[in-house]
Amino acid sequence: MSREQTLELSWIIPSALIPIALLGLLLYAYVTHGIHVPGQEGMIDPRAISQIAPFNAPGVVQTGPGTYQATIVGKMWTFEPKEIRVKAGAEVTFVASSADVIHGMRIQGTNVNIMLLPGQISRKTARFVKPGEYLLICHEYCGIGHHLMSGKVIVE
Ligand code: CUA
Repeated sequence: MSREQTLELSWIIPSALIPIALLGLLLYAYVTHGIHVPGQEGMIDPRAISQIAPFNAPGVVQTGPGTYQATIVGKMWTFEPKEIRVKAGAEVTFVASSADVIHGMRIQGTNVNIMLLPGQISRKTARFVKPGEYLLICHEYCGIGHHLMSGKVIVE
């Protein structure tokens, strides 16, 4: 084999192996972690959000010992509800969506950092160990009132 052929092979082989490895990783993520593109079960009609459970009753409900579900609707330019109250140590699953345009939701001091897309349900769970107030903000520019769009999680 000539030197040119060896050099060419040293490019061709990785360029075939890398996509195969990436496909393998996708398959691995799907099988072991259940990671997949959003399906129909995560979709809602944003125009009818106020009639669709759980968004017809935004707020916090206890789902078990120390676990809560906080349903939040983002809309120009507020969160509904603006305040969430839980006990220290609570594990809160946020279920959120948007009623109009694309918003964001980030809760200071936690790993909650999600997009609120009209028609799509977003979920993220966080544990609140330390009592205090955690600022909740919209981090996606959503119009003239974007900077006013905030709320808080109060941990008692
Ligand atoms: Cu909502 Cu920015």
